[in-house]
Amino acid sequence: MNKLLIEGGQPLIGELHAAGAKNAVLPILAATLLADEPVTLSNVPQLRDVTTSRALLERLGAQVTLHEPMTLEVDTRSVDKFCAPYDLVKTMRASILVLGPLLARYGYAEVSLPGGCAIGSRPVDQHLRGLRAMGAEIEVDAGYIRACCSGRLRGARLVLDLVTVTGTANVLMAATLAEGTTVIENAAREPEVVDLGDCLVAMGADITGLGTDTVVVRGVPRLHGTHYPVMPDRIETGTYLVAAAITHGQITIHGTRPACLDAVLLKLQEAGAQIDTGSDWIHLDMQGRRPQAVHLRTAPHPGFPTDMQAQFVALNAIAAGVGTITETVFENRFMHVNELQRMGALIRLEGNTAISTGVAQLTGAPVMATDLRASAGLVLAALAARGTTVVDRVYHIDRGYQGIEQRLTQLGASVRRITG
Ligand code: EPU
Repeated sequence: MNKLLIEGGQPLIGELHAAGAKNAVLPILAATLLADEPVTLSNVPQLRDVTTSRALLERLGAQVTLHEPMTLEVDTRSVDKFCAPYDLVKTMRASILVLGPLLARYGYAEVSLPGGCAIGSRPVDQHLRGLRAMGAEIEVDAGYIRACCSGRLRGARLVLDLVTVTGTANVLMAATLAEGTTVIENAAREPEVVDLGDCLVAMGADITGLGTDTVVVRGVPRLHGTHYPVMPDRIETGTYLVAAAITHGQITIHGTRPACLDAVLLKLQEAGAQIDTGSDWIHLDMQGRRPQAVHLRTAPHPGFPTDMQAQFVALNAIAAGVGTITETVFENRFMHVNELQRMGALIRLEGNTAISTGVAQLTGAPVMATDLRASAGLVLAALAARGTTVVDRVYHIDRGYQGIEQRLTQLGASVRRITG
């Protein structure tokens, strides 16, 4: 099994170009099922989850062609199977995103029920409730969701009980081909949902209100092909900004969208970073200083993203002072805390709050990645620690960070992938 061997203690200094966003490209790949012509996507990140999505589309019968390293063409005209099987869904929960598109375009879908995962129980009741309100008949049996509808789905007024990113994406996609108008209240405002919506509009969908909590979709009979560039990954950008901050370094990230990172940039400034931004770049400079501990609460966008929580727990572990981080989106997203404690961090968990008293120095140790963002937190801690850290179960990180060891090495870190 692959591991990352990291010698800490080097300030990270340099420049990077942001990769395409994982959480935008996954729903957009599912959305290609709605089009009756090929869809070409550029700025597609090279990630394990993209490979899994591609395998899923191919399993359904789609033709997926790689044109350049980051451009994929998906032709779904040959789709003749409608099942997302357990062996794929268990490796990537986002497979649930094919449910809405398959149902809307073909009238039938079967998707293995995603179970809980390391960060929480993660039910999909809101996805199913929304689709049922649009006329789908859905049963959950023997670990599978089976959904069907006769004719087109019907537009409906949906009020989501809570803000759900993939739940909003699923009903949004289904609504594009429904008969009549769908209003999604309490919709997720995440930039990745907006990017999906923009891609659907480029395919001929009629959507207004993207980026607000009320999204209105007027159904159309068909969606056509398009060429769409996937937005940059704000969580990848944020992670590398923290990598520079935690090592007292400086970094410029190009090809990114600073406006999507307001909450994160604010916390980095509170931690003592000097931040400059342009329309598509962010420069962070710690001026060699140790970060100050910060207080934050995760929340749906535009609040502080839960996908940046573990990275800030790592930052607080070595920062000056006491910081508190409260997780409100997922019930069990602090698995990294025990591993950070093994590196010498002083963190106390009180319910869903991690209270850290920053230490001057963490010490390298063997640690275990438990999910994607927890692994990112451990890698950041390792970069700041004295000595060698071996991060096990790196497959988690490969799900969402393109070429992490090359990118960190480019910034001056000592990182090597080893097997065994
Ligand atoms: N929830 C329900 N019922 C539902 C749907 C969600 O109770 O039907 C709950 C969840 O259990 C959770 C909360 O609502 O407590 C928010 O979950 P959400 O549905 O928004 O999460 P998701 O769509 O499954 C996406 C990202 C996650 C990211 C969250 C929150 C993708 C593919 N995944 O997950 O990304 O943490 O939104 O922003 O977009 C990651 O990239 O590491 C990752 C986990």
